[in-house]
Amino acid sequence: MENFHVDEDIKKAETLPATFYRSDEVFELLKERVFKSSYQWFGSLDDLLPQESYVKPLLFVEGHLEEPFFIRKDAKLGLTCFSNVCTHRGNLIFHHEGVSKRIACGYHGRTWKTDGEFKLMPEFKDVEGFPRSCDHLKSFQTAQLGPQLFVGIEPNIDIENVLSKMNERIGFLPLNEFKFDPSQSKDYLVNCHWALYCDNYLEGFHIPFVHEDLNAALDYGSYTTELFEKGSLQIGYSSGGEEVFDLPSGHPDEGKAVAAYYYWLFPNMMFNFYPWGLSVNVVRPISKNKTRVLFRSYVWDESKLSAGAGAVLDKVEREDEFVVEGVQKGLQSHTYKTGRFSPTREQGVHHFHRALAYCLKGSR
Ligand code: FES
Ligand SMILES: [Fe+2]
Repeated sequence: MENFHVDEDIKKAETLPATFYRSDEVFELLKERVFKSSYQWFGSLDDLLPQESYVKPLLFVEGHLEEPFFIRKDAKLGLTCFSNVCTHRGNLIFHHEGVSKRIACGYHGRTWKTDGEFKLMPEFKDVEGFPRSCDHLKSFQTAQLGPQLFVGIEPNIDIENVLSKMNERIGFLPLNEFKFDPSQSKDYLVNCHWALYCDNYLEGFHIPFVHEDLNAALDYGSYTTELFEKGSLQIGYSSGGEEVFDLPSGHPDEGKAVAAYYYWLFPNMMFNFYPWGLSVNVVRPISKNKTRVLFRSYVWDESKLSAGAGAVLDKVEREDEFVVEGVQKGLQSHTYKTGRFSPTREQGVHHFHRALAYCLKGSR
């Protein structure tokens, strides 16, 4: 496979080449090297597990990796997270969500304790060397930003560091009071490689060219990008008169007119905080030419929904779709190979391309 390299110095670096987005081999390798070792966001725990002993079966990167697991709210243990695959012959343990006091496989009756330890198996008393450690349920990592749940299957990301970077700026917000609003939530199918959708999100460079309304709400000159390990933050400042955060004293941006905090978490998640609440975007690969993008809104202050940078989410998304699908087509050309980065406006894309190239080298 081609050796992808993105120079550390943005002034010298070239973007990931078109061949990166065109290759089936790269697409598959990213699944293994990037998604398998990532954390993924699954929603607010209050919505996922509404009562004690509630079980919710989920898929890790639905439509792509599809690793089955379940989360459960246990009276003693609190939140637990286990593989949803029976350790006997691989049946799914839970098919539906709901209250379940016990963990049992419906195929041949294997059961586990609520902490995942093997408990009972009919007709197995003559089996030698049983149970083995792999007969217990495999547990998976969880992390939380307020009530928002993240799960990792084989993570190699320091998620606590990422979340603490986020908390530096949005920690003052009462995330527990944010309520999921289905009317403000939808899925978009976009004809592009998943990484292209992220590339576009990671720079505000295109805002004046692509997003007329958003550009009117934001002060393009002061738009900033900050990078951190496995993530980045873009800050949109208000151009005046628009909704801004009421920042507490001692806040790093105290006195500034912040209209939006756009957090990106490697490899495919966006957490956009607006004065009205939070819009989460998850970019899910379907194929190298097709991507599903989930928009999920959590509203805190409804009265602010119709003003400022967070007021035109659907329109902005459609505008982004248009340019990203244009890039997808352009990258099929045999004359375009690679581009360069703007050192002042494309730090986020450079940071992402570096991380992807690093994963493809096999280094962790
Ligand atoms: S597959 Fe679960 S008990 Fe047999
Ligand atoms: Fe955009």
